[in-house]
Amino acid sequence: MSRKMEFEELIPVLIAEHAEMKRDLTEVREAVSRKDFLSASKLLRELDRLFKQHIADEEAQVLRILIDAYGVEWADDAITVFRQHGPIYDLMEKVKKLAVLSTEELASYEEVLRQLLDEHTLAEESRVFPRALSTYNGHAVAES
Ligand SMILES: [Fe+2]
Ligand SMILES: [Fe+2]
Repeated sequence: MSRKMEFEELIPVLIAEHAEMKRDLTEVREAVSRKDFLSASKLLRELDRLFKQHIADEEAQVLRILIDAYGVEWADDAITVFRQHGPIYDLMEKVKKLAVLSTEELASYEEVLRQLLDEHTLAEESRVFPRALSTYNGHAVAES
């Protein structure tokens, strides 16, 4: 299910959510280090809900604009970047289960998840979103 709002309004919301997801993840780590597993699982449930909504919007709206304008072949960069949603989501699920199991394993998965999320959001903010915005505003932009 995706939110209905103007596309120019959606992009800043998505970028704010990147920061929010990273903050949540930091709080998860802090909760785990205090052995506060109840808070950790609660935060992970929130993160999970946010991430699902977020990727639904990216795939339904950002990707759609690029594919409509350039076709699948020339929206290749965005498709590659959005293909990371699956692995990120799987890792999140793993972290969610570990939040009640093992502190050490959880820390290492959280680290990988954090790294993936950082790379992913950087690619979106530096390449995919600017291109989608320019395209939406009527300027064709080649992939960088
Ligand atoms: Fe994404
Ligand atoms: Fe994103």
